[in-house]
Amino acid sequence: MTDNINVLILGSGGREHALAWKIAQSSRIKKVYIAPGNAGTAMEGENVNLDPGDFETVAEFACENDIDMVIVGPEAPLVKGIHDFFLGNEKYSHIGVVGPIKAGALLEGSKDFAKGFMKKYGIPTAAYRSFTRENYTDACEFLKEMKRPYVLKADGLAAGKGVLIISDYDEAVGELDKMFSGKFGKAGKTVVIEEFLKGIELSAFIISDGEDYKILPEAKDYKRIGEKDTGLNTGGMGAVSPVPFADDVFIAKVEERIIKPTLSGLKNEGIRYKGFIFFGLMNVNGDPYVIEYNVRMGDPEAEVIIPRIKSDLVDLLLGVTETNLRDRKMEISGDTVSTVMLVSGGYPGSYEKGKEILNMEKTSGSLIFHAGTRREGSRVVSSGGRVLAISSFGSDMDEALRKSYANAGIIDFQGKYFRKDIGFDLA
Ligand code: AMP
Ligand code: GLY
Repeated sequence: MTDNINVLILGSGGREHALAWKIAQSSRIKKVYIAPGNAGTAMEGENVNLDPGDFETVAEFACENDIDMVIVGPEAPLVKGIHDFFLGNEKYSHIGVVGPIKAGALLEGSKDFAKGFMKKYGIPTAAYRSFTRENYTDACEFLKEMKRPYVLKADGLAAGKGVLIISDYDEAVGELDKMFSGKFGKAGKTVVIEEFLKGIELSAFIISDGEDYKILPEAKDYKRIGEKDTGLNTGGMGAVSPVPFADDVFIAKVEERIIKPTLSGLKNEGIRYKGFIFFGLMNVNGDPYVIEYNVRMGDPEAEVIIPRIKSDLVDLLLGVTETNLRDRKMEISGDTVSTVMLVSGGYPGSYEKGKEILNMEKTSGSLIFHAGTRREGSRVVSSGGRVLAISSFGSDMDEALRKSYANAGIIDFQGKYFRKDIGFDLA
């Protein structure tokens, strides 16, 4: 057993705080660094002021500080090829990276690639076609054949804003034109038009070492800013795990129809996928369809899933980097965990930062994961749209949510907003 492990986590949100919190508890850890981190991650380890997109500087830091494992929180460095960068230089190639190589990260980095992959390997997903400016007329014809509402997706990464769901044909055609004209920059050069799936969403997660996988708990997040899922899309306003309708029968369908063919497809493409896969799913009358792949943990899904992992996460992730996940044990808590996100007033539009966060010390019975915070002397202030994720355990969803909401009421900062109906469609 290798012990005295040094870990570097890249990212600065609630997901990274949850990862750092769990990793810091490992008996195998020597030191955890988070780059760039936030005021919460600084309580679990040492924050380092590095840009996760600057691979050279990240790799040099990892070398100098004897890092054994780099865990990549967000997708952007993966899509840009951070894992390939480590593998490609013998000075860094001994350092394990949790997160796929660029070819694997395309599952999230290109919706056109992901759809083609699912089609090739028979993975259930909405029917679709991809178009570029050159075949705009065909795209309009295709739209005409589709049932409403129309689903338009920019191919590339668009910070969660690249999906449009539109009921009116003329509006859809207009938006398509705007996408081709650069509404989402290069991400919209190719547009996927797909069938609208009616059902209830949830997310499944695995970790994979390229050979084997383990299924993590599923979760449901709440993406819209307004109650009853109304208003603009956000990064996620809250989450719960487990998801009551995802019973053993449903999860078995997800494993057989989606997880297994995804992993065998990746292998067939010559991709040794090491890291998390996040399957955004639609449950259509009891059958799972893939809405999207993400190549990382979700945020705020991580804030409910990671607390449910009872096993040593460092041990599991060493299984990923050392390609012996099969030999590692994973135990999951049967409790429910909920999280409620406190956000800045105005988010996801414009909002103010730098608001002092008060009363955190008065809370009890919840884990307070920092999403967008920074320390200013003795004060902790907001530094993003999503500020804190308040995660709580319960023997059922009601108990967990009661604790999250009690503490959401205690913590205060100017402009604080949170959804009061997390879990509303699961009761
Ligand atoms: P994505 O960025 O692909 O996750 O899409 C954002 C959101 O749009 C999803 O979470 C769904 O709520 C919705 N969505 C995307 N694709 C579809 C589809 N084919 N049918 C219905 N809803 C969809
Ligand atoms: N909560 C959705 C995501 O992380 O993409």
